[in-house]
Amino acid sequence: MTTNTIRPIIDPSRPKVYIETYGCQMNVNDSEVILSILQDAGYALTENIEEASVILANTCSIRDNAEQRIWGRIDQFKIQKKKRENVIIGIVGCMAERLKDKLLEAVDLVAGPDSYRNLPELLKAITPESPQINVLLSHEETYADIAPVRLDKNGVSAFISIMRGCNNVCSYCVVPYTRGAERSRDPYTIVKEAQTLFDNGYKEVTLLGQNVDSYLWKGDKEADRVVNFAQLLEMVAKISPELRVRFSTSHPKDISDEVIYTMAMYENICKHIHLPVQSGSSIMLEKMRRKYNREWYLERVAKIRSVIPDCGITTDVIAGFSGETEQDHKDTLTLMEKVVFDSAFMFAYSERPGTLASRKYPDDIPYSLKTERLNEIIALQGRMSLKSNEKEIGKTLKVLVEGPSKKNPDELCGRASSNKMCVFPSRGEKAGDYCTVKVVSVTSATLICTRVE
Ligand code: SAH
Ligand code: SF4
Ligand code: F3S
Repeated sequence: MTTNTIRPIIDPSRPKVYIETYGCQMNVNDSEVILSILQDAGYALTENIEEASVILANTCSIRDNAEQRIWGRIDQFKIQKKKRENVIIGIVGCMAERLKDKLLEAVDLVAGPDSYRNLPELLKAITPESPQINVLLSHEETYADIAPVRLDKNGVSAFISIMRGCNNVCSYCVVPYTRGAERSRDPYTIVKEAQTLFDNGYKEVTLLGQNVDSYLWKGDKEADRVVNFAQLLEMVAKISPELRVRFSTSHPKDISDEVIYTMAMYENICKHIHLPVQSGSSIMLEKMRRKYNREWYLERVAKIRSVIPDCGITTDVIAGFSGETEQDHKDTLTLMEKVVFDSAFMFAYSERPGTLASRKYPDDIPYSLKTERLNEIIALQGRMSLKSNEKEIGKTLKVLVEGPSKKNPDELCGRASSNKMCVFPSRGEKAGDYCTVKVVSVTSATLICTRVE
């Protein structure tokens, strides 16, 4: 159901569904889609697990520890089942897709990322003797017509999924198996969703996909215009200069000059690119099947900075992939020193069953060495974040207010276009207002600012 309003969340007279969300931003948005579908079927959201008749976990499989956490949660959900009759426990999302009927022994419902439209039917069919499962992946499903229930609390910033699945086969990654083939969503439904958010007071949308640069919509009819990611960005940016546009994730092999120039053309397209490098070693990158090498990555960073000098660049790094030598590890460190990322998500390699790496490349870096390398990467990134923030001192920035700062209620916090977090004195503004500030000092995580008239 598409509407021009944002859907209300609480309705006391309906059966209640409680949902916990793990994993990436796409999962957060999927939970919003799930709640929209369940709301249409007569359920209401609750944030109190004690009153829920349906308890769902929208899960992640990206690393083993993500899955272990869910097994622990399932045990806790079962306590609710003991306390009250007819409580349904469901696992949805990537872990449902990966483990399929292996989960059925533990829960009443298992539903993969492309089966959410069937949730109302599946829920109805559940009995103690017959748990329900649907883990079929689709080549078409994009939930384009569903108006997500917005779970964010402040009504300022929202996610919009522009595509689903992934066609890359990075050898370490489980996502292509849990989310299926890549498909792009109709751009006109994306623009409509962004417009509706803006009409309802939202000031920022983040366009989501595993590899946004390969977004391509061809339509069904011959007359349909082909729309690529740069064009989609422009379509969304044109809604209003007051609506900020962000996007994630960019793949180094695919990010095009056209996207970089489009970003430069529109003030409201935020100057931030999340560009996961994974490793600084070309040997590791080849084995990871990333389809670029160290030089290519550095060239893309140079291109971004030549067109958008102040562009924020953040990354993901994996430590201790199969066969990683001391030299490969050093290559990652030197690349990080060269690029000076604003921030990074850093992980120890976790072998995922069924991936190419699990079949071809032994997980042969001992846990202690992986951790040692990861810690070195984290420590270096701390210094790089500080260095990157120090370059901001003296600059005037436009910040979108998120709310009061956590440490001091007389101060506000919000993000600059580069995605850097700023803290500054309040003059009574509220979430969703824009403020102009000047950076006076920094930590590795925050820019401390004064007000500018
Ligand atoms: N589509 C995005 C990444 C999605 S997963 C991209 O290609 O950039 C988010 C991050 O998790 C990845 O960038 C990678 O750094 C990390 N990751 C994925 N699989 C992993 C694994 N098996 N072990 C450790 N980290 C992993
Ligand atoms: Fe995984 Fe690679 Fe696809 Fe990212 S691009 S989701 S790392 S397979
Ligand atoms: Fe996790 Fe699935 Fe996202 S594996 S990172 S929730 S796509």
